[in-house]
This record gives sequence, C-alpha cells and structure tokens, in this order.
Amino acid sequence: MDINREIEQIQTEIKALRQQFHRYPELACEEYKTTEMIIEELEKLQIPYKRIDPTGVVGFIGEKGGKVIALRADIDGLPVQEETGLSYTSEISGQMHACGHDGHITGLLGAAKILKKYEKNLTGLVKLIFQPAEENAVGANIVIEQGYLDDVEEVFGVHIFSDIPVGQISIEPGPRMASTDKFMIKLYGKSGHAAKPHLCADTTVAAAAIVMNLQTIVSRRIDPLDDAVLTIGRLQSGTAYNVISGEAVLEGTVRTFSVETEQYIKELLIRIVRETATMYGIEAIIDYPDSAHPPLVNDVDIAKRVFEEAKQVFPQEALQSLPKLMLGEDFANYQKKAKVAFAFVGGGKCDGSTNYLNHHSHFDFDEEAMSNATKMHLLYIKSTIYKENGR
Ligand code: NI
Repeated sequence: MDINREIEQIQTEIKALRQQFHRYPELACEEYKTTEMIIEELEKLQIPYKRIDPTGVVGFIGEKGGKVIALRADIDGLPVQEETGLSYTSEISGQMHACGHDGHITGLLGAAKILKKYEKNLTGLVKLIFQPAEENAVGANIVIEQGYLDDVEEVFGVHIFSDIPVGQISIEPGPRMASTDKFMIKLYGKSGHAAKPHLCADTTVAAAAIVMNLQTIVSRRIDPLDDAVLTIGRLQSGTAYNVISGEAVLEGTVRTFSVETEQYIKELLIRIVRETATMYGIEAIIDYPDSAHPPLVNDVDIAKRVFEEAKQVFPQEALQSLPKLMLGEDFANYQKKAKVAFAFVGGGKCDGSTNYLNHHSHFDFDEEAMSNATKMHLLYIKSTIYKENGR
C-alpha cells in the first residue's frame, strides 16, 4: 500500500465530505443526522456496521480470528454560534463543529475507504468507532458499556489542533492529555444587613478565603516537577451591595497527568474547603464526583511502532516532539479496556491567516490535516495487523 498515493486519490472527495459534516454539527448524544450520514458512506463502501445507542456507529473491516483493534473518531459538535463565514458554515443555529470533529469523522472515513480496498491484507479485525458525545465525556463509556471494546486489544485515535501548524504530527509515549475533574462547592451562611456583619455569617468572605487557600494546593503541596492545574471558573455570592451574602457557589476543575496526583488534590481540596468554611462559621457542601476520565497515557510500544512507520511517509520535520496538553480527552476512558495511543495532528493554517483555538466561534483548520489524520490511522494499522502480500 502506497499510503501517500492512496490518500492523494481520495483527497477531493474527503474535502467535500467534510464540508457536508461541517454543515450539520450536532450536540453530544444527539448526532442522529451525523450518524445517518456516516452510515450512508459505510454502506457505499460495503462495510458492515452496528449502531451505537443512541447515536454513533461502529464499522468492521477485516475478519475475526486475529488481533482485534479499533480506530476512533469523535463525531459531536459544540453549542457555539459559528462566525467563520465559511461557504459551508453551520446550518444549525447555535451549534458548530468548533473542535474539528468533522475532520476526525472524514479522516477516519478516508482510512476506511483505503482499508476496505486492502482488506485481504489485514490479519485481524478493525473496528471503526464513530463515537458520540466526546465533549461531555460520556461517549467512550457508552461504547464500552455496549460491549464494543470487549475483544479489542488496542485503540488508536487522533485530534486536530489549530494551534499546531499543519503538517506537524506528534505521536509520543507517556502522558499526553490530562484527567478532568469537575467540582462544585455550595456555601451556606447567614445573610443580613451590610452594616451588621457581627450578626451574619458572610459567604462572600468565606468564598474568597477558599479561593485563595485552594491556590496553595498546586503551589505548595504538589511536587514542582509534577504538573497540575486547579481553576475556580465560577464564583457567585450575594444579591445586593448592602446585603451580606448567605449563600455562595463555586465551581472549578482539576487537571493532572496521574491518578495519584488527582486523588491527592481531591483529598486536599475537600479538607481545605471544610476547614476554611468552619473558620468562618459557614456550612460547606462539596460535590466532587469521580473524574470524567483518567489522564491519557500513550502506550510506549504502540507510540514507538507508529512513529517508526510515520518516519517512512512523513518528511522528517513533520514528526515533532510536542508538549502534553492540560486539555481533557474522553478517549482516555478506553484505557479501562485496552492499550491506547493518541496522535496530535496539526491543523493550523500557515498562509498568514489567524488561527483560532479549538472551541472558538472562528475555529477552522487546514484541510490537509484530514489527510494526515487518515495517514496516521493507516500507519497505525500498518504497524499492527497489515501484511504487504496478503495472508
Ligand atoms: Ni475535540
């Protein structure tokens, strides 16, 4: 299989297909039309498939008996009003493919098209997972709960990022993306007249102290060589300038690259919130559920294998060593069932136009990124269950 030539031949078709998906961005677990559009393509390619409930689909190429592996693309859009002005701009008001998942869908469909052609060369089964609901981090668990990962040994995936220049690729072993914890703290005090603080228990003062005390977790309690973020994104307290607040809400997120650090921060956070609240005579109720997903840690062997294959088809300068990201990725949940590896694919335009970050209303990527996504899927297959001259 001459990967570069195969991709060259489907480029025009893939670009057109991406524009179709871009027009119909659907939110997590509502990707009904998207699923139908993917199924239409799988049927054209005569690829058997099963629907994921409620949305998403898994296609099958190759045959049982050998190794079973999976390629994954996430398919959901975001609640963002598109402002790109593209000719194929979103036709759904308030919804947009602002994270490049339209590129992930078509990147995987491109790989499917080429793999189907070389099906006789596969020594195992490839599951093409078109996964719903990445953005709210429930999709991978839906796929797992419905049994699609039960016989899968490895899962490979990619993400297009606009802040990485197009043409650049990162496939590296070890931690690549962070765990994502979300917490909410509710404070209850006693409200009253602004001029009579001694008769009240002020939740604004307590909330401010909690925000400041929580800053000491990362700065004073975590090894400076370990990486972690604790952000309070929302703080609401009080109703009027002359009323002491009796209720406050804080919401935030914790990001780490190890489960141990994540658990340690969680314990410290709960203790600091409780003890600070007590100091101010405030009641604190903490809602800190289990992490939406663990850190995403690339399997050393898979990352090395794909890197070696990539050296054969990408120019040397394409394969970059890029820092890990504090962003979260639902793909990490597949680690519960299989070994995983995840590649970063550059999508940033190099023509001098402004590159807006993923999730921005002006977000767009260079279309060549889709070809590179397809390429990475194929290289992974080549490193895993592909024999050049058939079985
Ligand atoms: Ni994304």
